[in-house]
Amino acid sequence: MWTETRVARKLGTRLPLIQGPFGGGMSSTRLAAAVSNAGGLGSFGAHHLPPADIAATVKELRERTSAPFGINLWVPLEGEKALRPTPEEFAAGVARLKHWYDELGVPLPQYPGAFSQDYEAQVEAVLALAPPVFSFIFGIPSPQVLEACRQKGIVTVGTATNVDEGVALEKAGVDLIVASGSEAGGHRASFLRPAEESPATTALVPQLADRVRTPLVASGGIADGRTVATALALGAEGVQVGTAFLACEESNASDAYRRALRQESARATVLTRVFSGRYARGIKNRFLQELTPHEEDVPPYPIQNWLTTPLRKAAAARGREDLLSLWAGQNAPLIRHTRAPELVAFLEEDTTRVLARLSGL
Ligand SMILES: Cc1cc2nc3c(=O)[nH]c(=O)nc-3n(C[C@H](O)[C@H](O)[C@H](O)COP(=O)(O)O)c2cc1C
Repeated sequence: MWTETRVARKLGTRLPLIQGPFGGGMSSTRLAAAVSNAGGLGSFGAHHLPPADIAATVKELRERTSAPFGINLWVPLEGEKALRPTPEEFAAGVARLKHWYDELGVPLPQYPGAFSQDYEAQVEAVLALAPPVFSFIFGIPSPQVLEACRQKGIVTVGTATNVDEGVALEKAGVDLIVASGSEAGGHRASFLRPAEESPATTALVPQLADRVRTPLVASGGIADGRTVATALALGAEGVQVGTAFLACEESNASDAYRRALRQESARATVLTRVFSGRYARGIKNRFLQELTPHEEDVPPYPIQNWLTTPLRKAAAARGREDLLSLWAGQNAPLIRHTRAPELVAFLEEDTTRVLARLSGL
């Protein structure tokens, strides 16, 4: 059976299928638990949460499912923690966005104590909570953290957007590597090479399979049996699906966002850093188009991310998809399902069908 891979064995799931974590508030315990209960691995993106909220999330997940699930964090890039704009740079960042703050009636922000959550405190919380799976992007946790995970039986899942990152993750001893191709929705989680250079899934997975022995999970553009079967043929032993799960009613995406994923405009996704200061793939909308001429001037992550968060929250609350960050992968047009358990069942059955057809050729 194609489902019985090292990835499924390591995760302790029936299917070698991960529901990709969504940061920035798009994950829900309802979605993650629904996927875990259906035989995949549900994940929760927690990089925007303080430790107490991570603890509450894990508690809720444990109440909703007895199956394995994953918690996901963003490892800070080199120098990220020390990034503090001068008051003038902060004022320029706010001025660039004032027009949208005013339009949405959101008060202009004051210089904060911190622009992002404290990763060290988050990781301490994850270790104390010991979720079945800890996944991470934008880097590799310290050897001490990885060792603590091994001791506590927490399965570790790193993310590579190029071959060098996959090799580095293997050297660090992670259990599984997500090979994230450039079709994927959301942030390009590159940490050793520029995000814009990251190859497509069909280039990354076979090249990485030739270089590492750690089981690979293909991610980026996977949405049906054809794309799962392709990932397996390329050398992956599992898949991580994001956009198709985000479009399901159990996710925390707003109605406007979910609608946008199913519209004609979802055919045109681009890599942009205007929302967060880091490259991410999303659907072109008014905010993206109006700010793109100033893309070079946008402050780096986490500053721009912090500056646009109140705007995106207000836009979501008001159903304003023209001002949301509409992260989506290049295969959003393949989305057919509205409920996560049905999507899990479809991915399993459709892959079995495609593989049977291929074996009959
Ligand atoms: C809205 C959104 C938020 C995401 N946030 C995260 C995140 O915080 N951590 C992470 O590892 N991956 C994140 N991803 C990537 C997904 O988990 C998944 O790997 C990706 O969407 C797979 O590609 P696909 O969208 O083509 O299916 C995000 C994706 C989207 C669409």
